[in-house]
Amino acid sequence: PAYENIKVEVVGSKKNVGLIQLNRPKALNALCGPLFVELGQAVRDFDADEKIAAIIITGNEKAFAAGADIKEMQNNTFSHNTKKGFLKDWEDVSNCGKPIIAAVNGFALGGGCELAMLCDIIYAGEKAKFGQPEINIGTIPGAGGTQRLPRYVGKSKAMEIVLTGNFIDATEAERMGLVSRVFPVDKLLEETIKLAERIGTHSPLIVKMAKAAVNQAYETTLKSGLQFEKAYFYGTFATEDRKEGMTAFVEKRPPNFKNE
Ligand code: HXC
Repeated sequence: PAYENIKVEVVGSKKNVGLIQLNRPKALNALCGPLFVELGQAVRDFDADEKIAAIIITGNEKAFAAGADIKEMQNNTFSHNTKKGFLKDWEDVSNCGKPIIAAVNGFALGGGCELAMLCDIIYAGEKAKFGQPEINIGTIPGAGGTQRLPRYVGKSKAMEIVLTGNFIDATEAERMGLVSRVFPVDKLLEETIKLAERIGTHSPLIVKMAKAAVNQAYETTLKSGLQFEKAYFYGTFATEDRKEGMTAFVEKRPPNFKNE
């Protein structure tokens, strides 16, 4: 499909990494409704494409995304938001079964920070800045910021970020556990592609199960998460790829996974 607010490309030496670049540079990639419809479509397409092992969402050097589009939502009302289900398109990203990695250079603010947190792994460039500045404009995070941020960084830091609206830099974000690694600005994308390619060497079926199991830790209680994990762990023993992985180890050869 032809997109206006994003650019979509297949990258990596095996052409198995789906790259989505947010592309509203003049508005610092503010996340307007049409952008999210396109982003959802692109994520669903890559999720359905058997050749794609992992997905990357990125922006540009100045901004990953500076938040929901303030100009677009400025005149929204409570009843409009409720009737239209404002922000409902965001669920497409969190429903994706394949790993999604956020490669964040520049600003990841408000909805931009929330979009990064919807992803499974966040890599950042040295000049990245994260924040939930909604409080500055008289509102609060609305796409998971008050719920996911405490799960990443704990209550005290999440409260500080949400209640002050202050930004945190990449090093601090890494120290807090919001970001898993920080790279020089111009190395970020290639390092993120390497990560996606590394994930792409494994069985896509088992990767999907592993992702679903880790997500249980964020979405359920410990008890039900452990039950889910056990069921999935046992479940891997019903797959060809589990058999192949262990056989290859014993035969001292690389595995040849079939996604079965
Ligand atoms: C719409 C935005 C925007 C946004 C920036 N722009 N952020 N437009 N929505 N969120 C536009 C500006 O209006 C301007 O366009 C252009 O991008 C460049 O921005 P500047 O402000 O001139 O750049 P700079 O001085 O470098 O400042 C960068 C900035 C600042 C610190 C990131 O733009 C900023 O504070 N932006 C808003 C950040 C924010 O509050 N985000 C949370 C949004 S609420 P023009 O054409 O005017 O020059 C939110 C709610 C989440 O996300 C709810 C669930 C999704």
